[in-house]
Amino acid sequence: MTAVAENAHDTSQIPAPEGSVTITVKILRFNPELDTEPHWESYDVPALPTDRVLNLLFNIKNYVDGTLAFRRSCAHGICGSDAMQINGINRLACKVLVKDLLAKDGKRTTVTVAPIKGLPTMKDLYVDMEPFFEAYRAVKPYLIAYGNEPTRERIQSQADRERFDDTTKCILCAACTSSCPVYWADGSYFGPAAIVNAHRFIFDSRDEGSEERLDILNDAEGVWRCRTTFNCTDACPRGIQVTKAIQEVKRALLFKRV
Ligand code: SF4
Ligand code: FES
Repeated sequence: MTAVAENAHDTSQIPAPEGSVTITVKILRFNPELDTEPHWESYDVPALPTDRVLNLLFNIKNYVDGTLAFRRSCAHGICGSDAMQINGINRLACKVLVKDLLAKDGKRTTVTVAPIKGLPTMKDLYVDMEPFFEAYRAVKPYLIAYGNEPTRERIQSQADRERFDDTTKCILCAACTSSCPVYWADGSYFGPAAIVNAHRFIFDSRDEGSEERLDILNDAEGVWRCRTTFNCTDACPRGIQVTKAIQEVKRALLFKRV
């Protein structure tokens, strides 16, 4: 689907706090009950430099058009709900500050906001995450241990814990997977986030399911589809070295060593 028209809205109802500047927010909107394809709509919004893009979306929703659909929960970069394309880059709307988007030349700032790619758009900025979670579940993202239940906690050295520390930080926002050209081209690829979450357990010294997961990721839709474009690493709001994690899983498969 491609964008076609652009409509402007009366935004005079939005309160303008002292020190605010007006910026133009263009949102790629899509209502499956009315539209055959997405289209851009434009809103002039008063914004403080300390506002996050999420605040602007709320002002549009609360004062201009209550039908604007987007997902969010914590508003603090923790839950991973509000990944979207902001100025063409996958970001969390609750983490992007207006001050970092302001035009340097004093001209009117325009910010574009669109849904993440590669997942079906349900409405406006709200996408169906089910294909993403299906891939996540497929790699068994939980501790697998056989034998008798231990009578005390499973001990792990600091060095062993360090081995997978980076991939524990994932908040399942899908910014990486939805920035991956291989995933756009073929949604059956597991995608970077699923591999990151497999990595988190494959390299956990307490886990006994590494072979099962490596077998799953050795599949045609597994790690070998990765073309190392680094989009995923650039997109990750948690700073996870996503491409490195994928490379480590590839190496574990090649050398049969975790
Ligand atoms: S690896 Fe990063 S970008 Fe990917 S889902 Fe996890 S937190 Fe989001
Ligand atoms: S709303 Fe939770 S991460 Fe942005």
